[in-house]
Amino acid sequence: MAEIDRRILVVDDEPVIRKLLARILERADFSVVVAEDGLDGLEKLRTDASIRLIVSDLRMPKCGGLEFVRRAIGEFKRDFEFILLTGDGDKSDAIEALRLGVREFLDKPVERADLEAAVFKAQERLLEHDREHERVRKLEIENFSKSQTLDEINRKLGGAEEELIDRLSLISQYRDIETAEHCVRVGLYSQLLADMAGLDANTQRTIRLAGILHDIGKVGVPDDVLLKEGSLTDCEFEVMQRHTEIGYSMLNSSHNPVLQQAAVIARHHHEKWTGNGYCTGLVGEDIPIIARIVSIADVYDALRSSRRYKPPFGHDAAVSIITKGDGRTAPDMFDPTLLGLFAEHHHRFENIFDSMPDQLV
Ligand SMILES: [Fe+2]
Ligand SMILES: [Fe+2]
Repeated sequence: MAEIDRRILVVDDEPVIRKLLARILERADFSVVVAEDGLDGLEKLRTDASIRLIVSDLRMPKCGGLEFVRRAIGEFKRDFEFILLTGDGDKSDAIEALRLGVREFLDKPVERADLEAAVFKAQERLLEHDREHERVRKLEIENFSKSQTLDEINRKLGGAEEELIDRLSLISQYRDIETAEHCVRVGLYSQLLADMAGLDANTQRTIRLAGILHDIGKVGVPDDVLLKEGSLTDCEFEVMQRHTEIGYSMLNSSHNPVLQQAAVIARHHHEKWTGNGYCTGLVGEDIPIIARIVSIADVYDALRSSRRYKPPFGHDAAVSIITKGDGRTAPDMFDPTLLGLFAEHHHRFENIFDSMPDQLV
């Protein structure tokens, strides 16, 4: 038994009873501190932080047992075990004491065996409290270190994901499909639109990364179509359209959530709101929103960029083509809500384009 659990406070205003109680407890190997009433008891608790076991009379002058219990619980952040000595007519006080958490009551006059049994039981409850505190403390430490490890893993995985996508997008550049800047800018416009559309932060991050890979399927398009100068024949255009399905099948089998979203974007970024896009011909809200977002981002950046079949347009011309149409691009291709956001905040798209110009090779 630890020293701390052998300390016991005896509070009683009658010196004879006090002495008697102290003697019984000392014989039971307790280290006894005595107090002559509740106020004196509180003082003893202040000066000795190791006292948690208390035997107290209920009826005392100045500060009675009930008030003593109430003040002790209120003042000290300690687990106490009280044993209250009750006489006839103390029933209502005993009920109030029960409400305060007192578990042991002894009828006066106190029998030695009853006192010993009550004190041992109280002592066992204190030890159980301690064991419970220890269990909770260990669990908290365990949970804390687990959450630290999870944070660490998530940070590392987040970094690995970004690097993976970066590396994958290099494939496009080796085959002269798109510039790295185009891919990254499409991711950034997409994140901006996702934010403006009210999508959550996680989706915004996903679309920024996944958007980079929107044209990854072009690696499966033969050179004579992919690198052809000038416009494509109908048949060549059909071959070119296959980049959506190729990109989808490249990425779709991944268990990584960002690559799964990238697969959806690769497949649907050429769908049109009116339903006459490719490769599935989905209409309106049936087109996944991430693909509707990337569609506007991709068209804006393609218009601003130099392509084999066209010179780059300035910002105002690109905005006008998207919002008013030019015979090839029409506003009804796009999700009207997203188009409205683009029209309202087009300068933020321009800022992204200006902040990351294509590198001259
Ligand atoms: Fe594409
Ligand atoms: Fe693109």
